[in-house]
Amino acid sequence: MDIARTPSTPEGNPEMADAAESPHEPAVIRRSDYKPFAWRVPEVSLDFALGLEETHVTAVLAVERNPQADASPTIHLDGDGLEPLTVKIDGEVATSWSMEGNDLIVSLPGDAHQIEVTTKINPSANTALMGLFASGGMLCTQCEAEGFRRITFFPDRPDVLSVYRVRMSGPKAQFPVLLSNGNLEAEGDGEDGTHWAQWHDPWPKPSYLFALVAGDLIANSDIFNTVSGREVALNIWVREGDEGRTGHAMESLKKSMRWDEETFGREYDLDLFNIVAVSDFNMGAMENKGLNVFNTKYVLADEDTATDVDFDGVEGVIAHEYFHNWSGNRVTCRDWFQLSLKEGFTVLRDQLFSQDMGSAPVKRIEDVRVLRGAQFPEDSGPLAHPIRPDSFREISNFYTATIYNKGAEVIRMIRTMAGEEAFRKGTDLYFDRHDGEAATCEDFVKAMEDGAGLDLTQFRLWYSQAGTPKVSVRLTHEGDTATLHLSQEVPPTPGQSDKQPMPIPIKLALFDRDSGEHRGEQLITLDKAQVSLSFDGFAKPPILSVNRGFSAPIVVHRDISSDELVFLAARDDDPFARYEALQDLVVGHLKDAVDGSLDDAARKDARQAITSAIAAVLADDTLDDSMRGELLVLPSESYLAETMLVADPGRIHAERQSLRAAIGSALEPEFTAVYQRASQVPYSLSAEARGARKVKTQALVYLAAGNPDLAATMAAAQYDSANNMTDRQGAMMVLCGLEGIERTNKLIDFYNRYKGNALVIDKWFALQAGSMHPAALAHVKALADHPDFTMKNPNRVRSLFMAMAYNPQAFHAEDGEGYRMIGDFILALDPINPQTAARFVPQLGKWRRIEPGRSALMREQLERIAAAPGLSRDTHEQVSRSLG
Ligand code: ARG
Ligand code: ZN
Repeated sequence: MDIARTPSTPEGNPEMADAAESPHEPAVIRRSDYKPFAWRVPEVSLDFALGLEETHVTAVLAVERNPQADASPTIHLDGDGLEPLTVKIDGEVATSWSMEGNDLIVSLPGDAHQIEVTTKINPSANTALMGLFASGGMLCTQCEAEGFRRITFFPDRPDVLSVYRVRMSGPKAQFPVLLSNGNLEAEGDGEDGTHWAQWHDPWPKPSYLFALVAGDLIANSDIFNTVSGREVALNIWVREGDEGRTGHAMESLKKSMRWDEETFGREYDLDLFNIVAVSDFNMGAMENKGLNVFNTKYVLADEDTATDVDFDGVEGVIAHEYFHNWSGNRVTCRDWFQLSLKEGFTVLRDQLFSQDMGSAPVKRIEDVRVLRGAQFPEDSGPLAHPIRPDSFREISNFYTATIYNKGAEVIRMIRTMAGEEAFRKGTDLYFDRHDGEAATCEDFVKAMEDGAGLDLTQFRLWYSQAGTPKVSVRLTHEGDTATLHLSQEVPPTPGQSDKQPMPIPIKLALFDRDSGEHRGEQLITLDKAQVSLSFDGFAKPPILSVNRGFSAPIVVHRDISSDELVFLAARDDDPFARYEALQDLVVGHLKDAVDGSLDDAARKDARQAITSAIAAVLADDTLDDSMRGELLVLPSESYLAETMLVADPGRIHAERQSLRAAIGSALEPEFTAVYQRASQVPYSLSAEARGARKVKTQALVYLAAGNPDLAATMAAAQYDSANNMTDRQGAMMVLCGLEGIERTNKLIDFYNRYKGNALVIDKWFALQAGSMHPAALAHVKALADHPDFTMKNPNRVRSLFMAMAYNPQAFHAEDGEGYRMIGDFILALDPINPQTAARFVPQLGKWRRIEPGRSALMREQLERIAAAPGLSRDTHEQVSRSLG
């Protein structure tokens, strides 16, 4: 049971919490329990004697009492699976220490001491990929959030900031490149073919930003001149043979550096910036000071091996990690409850960057789609938490779409309310005021109030209340006055049954029915449960365009006719609102269809309206292809499920597919024409060419639903003539969902063509696991025994099992086989890599909102996992929260 989320438990009563917990339950950490650390650690020296199987670490900590904290006779140093080989205090071997669980407690008589601890670790045995681990013959680290304690004993919390000096030595042939944070101070050769390097990072940082890399790497090197005229050496380190695919990452890095100077006034602050690509990595990338470590997926890209989406992924993640240098590193987090302080803000910064690099409206639609697909389900399920959580057991479980993506939306709302200029004043003040500090979300909000001149008193609810607000909108009309009736409701979430109304900034416009024009966009704030607003001068009822640009992360229930949606889908000048109108048209119809509340005539009418709207999108030559491609995307099955109280995934899938087939058949000539036009555009990374590739695959998907035989022939031809991965993968995606010899042939060809390229072989696995093929589950089962499949590589694991878990048709197989496979898989991965295993639990956690038959089968798997002995803290927490 999760005490923190049980409403009957009095807040902040630790005795009660302890008494209610079994001794084996991992402890609940609470935000309200925060206390500053008793000691400061101004300086740290680390010495690494490197080896793949055995690395010796000597850590020397200069510590002094923290005058801002309660004095303590001991210092508590976190550890995780470590044994102290020696402990010295002020140079003398000490015995005044003890172990408390995993942690080292050292008695310290005075006000300032030097503590030296040696430890020994085995990086090759580190399959959790936290701390120091081996990957393809190299050594590297991942310390956020609590990995540093797997390297040495340390106050492993973000509010302890130290200046690091790192010396490392190892066999030169095996590890010719030795990197750490900051600047290289000295290097040299040692005995017996060893060499060493010494690094110094002048910027005080918490342990989670420490990094070390040792390996046989080569760099793509460049130079960036900062706005104040300093020269920064840039290196992107990869394995030999991969350097040809680093160009896009380097361009993205330079653009990011320039953009942050121009847009947020942030300049880089070291003479060196290193990025290292690693193939075994739990997440996307990590912003270690001056030494970002990246999943190869977000570094390597060229036209033959990466899709347009992959190119954008590289650009976005490079930017994200670079931007952390200010939002995260220069100003860090006081404790992990403040994670969104750096992540939400940095996601907003990378979103704004990508908007500026490409099409802003398209980027906005993509970001909203991610929010709705990943964050809305989180917010409406058992794992819902505020962007600033109140408690956790395992912080790794809180690197969520809520912290990241909703966190970004919350700051975006502040920006919308303030306007760009005032927002910049707020961020300037924030960086100024808190530079070098470990700050809180409250510090950020306060800086925004003071700098941007806003009153955010009520707005703070966005930090403390979980759940997606539901806003109902109704328009009435009398005489020549239109009245807008708005009401909001924030649904209950675990541990939060009663919610207060939130201030919701809503952009809207009222379209005149006759002229088809509106009189200007307005920004209103809905800050009560109900508000009515009147607008004069409308002889006829206007048509309402609401939450334009997705100005607030809410669900809108609007009382609107399908004619009005068709109007907005064709005419709205806000591209997001236009997209939204088309989505609403489709969602409305599919909900009725899934309910069974449609007779044949009504179904025909609805399909007719949607088909004409899609035809208009295909014909509208004011649209660019990239936007056209967005408008053609049908709402995802997971988003559709989200709009229903209890979802039947089987019916959702069937109705959505059937609608797609109906549109595809009705518009076969139009889709064929678009396909042929787009196919004429030669490959380049221009917006035009990328847009063409997007609509081309969209057209193929519709055609495949309506006329599989025709689409199979077209897809096979597209595969054969493809000169880039976007076209090749698009063709494969369609073929993988179809029966027939082309499917088999092209899968074999694809595999042989890219054998040995891990990132592309990942695609080969994901294409099959994510396919519309009725036998996808059987394919996944067979692929799990493929010689290229391994549980040790997170990318590979995700490409097979994450792709399956998010393939609604496969995962929700009626007999529960998909759930069983994910259950087995979680149990098998948990002992190897708990952090990644726990990431699969939320899919099963959706059981409460699924029809009873499947719901029971999903729950059964959660119970089976919960009962397994020796479960990790990560998986245990997710499973117990999911069972509720
Ligand atoms: N801070 C990293 C980022 O840029 C992610 C670190 C994730 N850590 C984890 N334990 N999941 O978003
Ligand atoms: Zn981040």
